[in-house]
Amino acid sequence: MTDVSLGMPQLPAPDYPAEVRARLEADAKEVIARYPGARSALLPLLHLVQAEEGHVTRTGVRFCAEMLDLTTAEVTAVATFYSMYRRGPGGDYQVGVCTNTLCAVMGGDAIFETLQKHLGVGNGGTTEDGKVTLEHIECNAACDFAPVVMVNWEFFDNQTPDSAKRLVDDLREGRTVAPTRGAPLCTYKETARILAGFPDRRPGAVEATGGAGPASLVGLRLAKGEAVPGAGPAADHVVPQRGADPAEAEGERAGRAPGEAPATHPSSHDAPRDTSASDPSHPAGPTAEEGE
Ligand code: FES
Repeated sequence: MTDVSLGMPQLPAPDYPAEVRARLEADAKEVIARYPGARSALLPLLHLVQAEEGHVTRTGVRFCAEMLDLTTAEVTAVATFYSMYRRGPGGDYQVGVCTNTLCAVMGGDAIFETLQKHLGVGNGGTTEDGKVTLEHIECNAACDFAPVVMVNWEFFDNQTPDSAKRLVDDLREGRTVAPTRGAPLCTYKETARILAGFPDRRPGAVEATGGAGPASLVGLRLAKGEAVPGAGPAADHVVPQRGADPAEAEGERAGRAPGEAPATHPSSHDAPRDTSASDPSHPAGPTAEEGE
């Protein structure tokens, strides 16, 4: 019979060397103590083992399972579900190019293609010097700065193929690069330890985390009735002030006189549908519990 690999770790996995095990156990106990139930600490513990080895190894899975009284299958199920956990060795810098819809049309696809050629690796590949792992990533909630590239989960906004090439060249050459927003960059393992919940002790790193960038605040400024350069005439974007009648505001935007009723557009979408609450022939009763 042919062996079939399902991507599951082969067991039993070797344990860590005694010194490493003792150090990780102390760290893990500190993390677990923050949660009312031990198993809730699984996500940070997976980051902790990534901080040790750069990815979630079989040994890391075994360690998490033993610390949390879970099966290795349960730990593996979680580790393989979330894209922030690596399932194999990678570089010091995880370079993720957003190729989700908005970033893609704003240039993300071109950036990803350019970097693949420039680095000579495909999706998930690592450069020979072990510095950069390239991957395409899904939306990182930074669409207002599209197209974005992330390095170890720090944002590099409004990128172009050329700026992205410079970025990876700088990373490989060991030059200092600064994210557009957020804390200064550190290596993948160092980032993993911070994500495990241990403090970032670099001077100024926490303060640099900052808040929302200007592009993210445009909607808020429009809602306050402020004019926003590049957003067109402010009148086009008037948002009802708190306490204003939303129907009047909507009518104003639609060009109706105050008090004028909106035109009716009967359609299947407008017609109220019977519900169990409004249909007397099908009165709603208490929902039976399954098995009753
Ligand atoms: S589509 Fe790229 S951050 Fe949202």
